[in-house]
Amino acid sequence: MRIPMIAGNWKMNTTVTEAVALVKEMRPELDRIDNVDKVICPPFVSLAAVKELLTRSSIKLGAQNLYFEEKGAYTGEISPLMLAGLCQLVIIGHSERRQYFKETVETVDKKIKAAFKVGLKPILCVGETPKENETGKTKEVLSKQLSLTSSQAYNPGGLTLAYEPIWAIGTGRAASGEQANQTIAFIRQHISKQYGQEIAQAVRILYGGSVTAANIAEFINQPEIDGALVGGASLKASEFLSIVKQTSSFKRAK
Ligand code: PGA
Repeated sequence: MRIPMIAGNWKMNTTVTEAVALVKEMRPELDRIDNVDKVICPPFVSLAAVKELLTRSSIKLGAQNLYFEEKGAYTGEISPLMLAGLCQLVIIGHSERRQYFKETVETVDKKIKAAFKVGLKPILCVGETPKENETGKTKEVLSKQLSLTSSQAYNPGGLTLAYEPIWAIGTGRAASGEQANQTIAFIRQHISKQYGQEIAQAVRILYGGSVTAANIAEFINQPEIDGALVGGASLKASEFLSIVKQTSSFKRAK
């Protein structure tokens, strides 16, 4: 039984003051929901303040990226060791990192390994560009993005995957539930071929890309989809709460 996860990726939004206000607004109601893993990923600079606010909370904290080296002359980078005491999860390989900061399958793989080394749980993002989608390359691209991830990453409670088609991110043009379900089923089959059925059935796979309170039901009702990575809609307390609540009641009813 895979516990659903709803993770909010705040991206490069909110000052520390705004992040604190948003968490204060969301925390009481989110804490009442116990059958969904609730994760928020504010910018690095707000992690310490938000961590304080989440003392004795069931809300988990995640970072949006890390560098794979532990320390040294890497001006401006944040190491796994720095994050280890601050948060429990870390988003790795988001398409915006791959696109604007030239992250490759190899660097993403190094980051996954570096995260595990310090006990951080990665949310690994994969997804195809609009062009790759139009030219029928989606499966090939996803297989490549998953190619270096080792079997150890799939140890129980380890890696969470997020399928995020780039054409659906921040565009208001979400995939259909059925489309997302089919591609996520493909990802699960791919993992099954690499590491076996048991591992494939245990790994959590989220959908991401223009998820809102208005369309979450479409995704969470699909058998292969275990939750969502939410960008824009995670910046509004009422919207994010509604997404988590709908996920919670669907899973309870099941
Ligand atoms: P979006 O972003 O919900 O704003 O489309 C999702 C993501 O990039 O994780």
